[in-house]
Amino acid sequence: MGKTIIFNWKMNPETLKEAKDILNAVKKLSQSAKQKIIIASPFVYLETLVKSKNKKIELASQDVFWQEKGSYTGEISPTMLKNMEIEWVIIGHSERRQHLNETDEMINKKVLAVLKAGLKVILCVGENSAIRKKGDKTIMDFIKKQLDKDLKNVEYSVNNLIIAYEPIWAIGTGIPCKSEDAVKIIKFVKKILNTKYKIQNTKILYGGSVNGENIVNFVKYKEIDGVLVGAASLKKEAIKNIINKFK
Ligand code: PGA
Repeated sequence: MGKTIIFNWKMNPETLKEAKDILNAVKKLSQSAKQKIIIASPFVYLETLVKSKNKKIELASQDVFWQEKGSYTGEISPTMLKNMEIEWVIIGHSERRQHLNETDEMINKKVLAVLKAGLKVILCVGENSAIRKKGDKTIMDFIKKQLDKDLKNVEYSVNNLIIAYEPIWAIGTGIPCKSEDAVKIIKFVKKILNTKYKIQNTKILYGGSVNGENIVNFVKYKEIDGVLVGAASLKKEAIKNIINKFK
């Protein structure tokens, strides 16, 4: 099974022209790519990207609301995304947990609504630096609790869920998790999914300060099914390195 690369643009770029420009760069590289490539774009660019992308590239929104329609000013529903032919939704990114006070209960509602609408979920989990300092057992307990709450009542099959292990202290800091530590947590997440949900093949990705240089540290581990890339996903040279090296 090939690897998966998610380019999460976050609240970037500032113009549609730049968005198209980055998409074109990814498109060229995607022709010969063996990996699954997913671009998570701000809502406002998705419609244009759907029309201009190629078959090798799949699109994700970076959030969603849990209701299908109605009086929820400012929100976007899973049905709207589905009708626009968006395939994936990132849910529970730590930046939303932190800045928008998203709770595991809200995340769980979003996960259930997205799966019900026939979209696929990229669920982000990961510990902060205070938890990391307490060691592996505390980290694993924390992540298990996140998974239990975020995936409550979820019945899923292997194709509609990706988990991104994103330690908060590594996101946007330029300090990635050591790849061997990421592998340890990824193996642990796989074990929980296998035992609790009887699912063998869910892809577990690593995210947090991955760039065009340090990607080589993550390539060598078969346990790391892919990477979720933030800041570097806006830089053409880094995009090229990541696609070319992470096979
Ligand atoms: P980063 O972000 O690569 O800029 O650290 C990763 C992410 O989207 O969480």
